[in-house]
Amino acid sequence: MQARPIGRSGLSVAPLCLGGNVFGWTADEATSFAILDRFVESGLNFIDTADVYSRWASGHQGGESETVIGNWFKRSGHREKIVLATKVGMDMGQAGKNDPGKGLSAAHIEHAVEASLRRLQTDRIDLYQSHLDDAATPIEETLAAYERLIKAGKVRAIGASNYSAARLRQALDVAKARSLPRYECLQPDYSLAERAGYESELEPLCRRQGIGVIGYFSLAAGFLTGKYRSPDAAEGRARGGNVQKYLNPRGFALLDVLDGVAAEHGATPAQVALAWLIARPGVTAPIASATSLAQLDELIGAVSLTLSASAVDRLSKASAGGIRV
Ligand SMILES: NC(=O)c1ccc[n+]([C@@H]2O[C@H](COP(=O)([O-])OP(=O)(O)OC[C@H]3O[C@@H](n4cnc5c(N)ncnc54)[C@H](OP(=O)(O)O)[C@@H]3O)[C@@H](O)[C@H]2O)c1
Repeated sequence: MQARPIGRSGLSVAPLCLGGNVFGWTADEATSFAILDRFVESGLNFIDTADVYSRWASGHQGGESETVIGNWFKRSGHREKIVLATKVGMDMGQAGKNDPGKGLSAAHIEHAVEASLRRLQTDRIDLYQSHLDDAATPIEETLAAYERLIKAGKVRAIGASNYSAARLRQALDVAKARSLPRYECLQPDYSLAERAGYESELEPLCRRQGIGVIGYFSLAAGFLTGKYRSPDAAEGRARGGNVQKYLNPRGFALLDVLDGVAAEHGATPAQVALAWLIARPGVTAPIASATSLAQLDELIGAVSLTLSASAVDRLSKASAGGIRV
């Protein structure tokens, strides 16, 4: 399996990143441990999480995912086998006297990183990402805070998630002008179901600047597995809110093309959706999560799937511009 560089960070990863938002949410700790064990055993090495996962779930505070991963590091001893990505910036609901509790101010980053390191039971984060832009904090303040963490050995490289092209460009310019660390990686919402937001301006910028790209919702929260096949199929499901917008004629037409390509290749729609992303120039590794070993095994199969040129072309045409109506 060919490792791919994350920008110019010096880090390299296998071409599929395991999404961590399910750990402690839709996957309990025992299931999460089994998924993490299997992921490493299969030769993959890249995990993405965030401090705030899974604060949206009823009764959760945030930090559940990092806590499960930290417990797994402790139990398995596999920390050194993993390139660990986490994020800062979302509201953890813990504002205090010296910590605004969210955003990308130096004060918040300094508090948040310590909390993440504690939960993750590690001394360093390999890729620390700004979870979302913070227009109220000067970019220079944020990058200088990251520079201190890199110098202290607590962080190895930084990335940005949910940034517009204009703001990413601005951050790159500030980094260059002030000799501060630059964002080496972008984490956009990117899949066959959501193309325009990344491909229109961010993709050319990242390719020009040699920035790694690790898209999230690679399976459109499960829609691209083909398990939601009617307008009401997502009702009452944990991911219902995220997939409802695809349950329309354009979405179902894309599933038909995925089914056809999957049959031709002896693969599944989820594998085809990931293989399309893995083959996309400029993509480092799509991020996808699994809530069972069976799902994970299916996702891992995508890494060794090579799509024919005609299949890539049909998928690209069926999904041009994304499929939301
Ligand atoms: N930066 C950001 O703002 C941001 C936002 C969202 C996510 N992320 C990152 O991206 C990762 C991936 O996002 P995601 O997990 O929300 O979406 P996703 O990868 O598009 O969808 C994964 C979900 O689809 C279902 N699934 C996976 N494999 C399957 C299979 N083989 N058969 C049937 N169903 C399958 C599972 O959910 P069920 O079993 O519950 O159906 C799984 O949790 C997250 O873990 C997180 O690390 C980042």
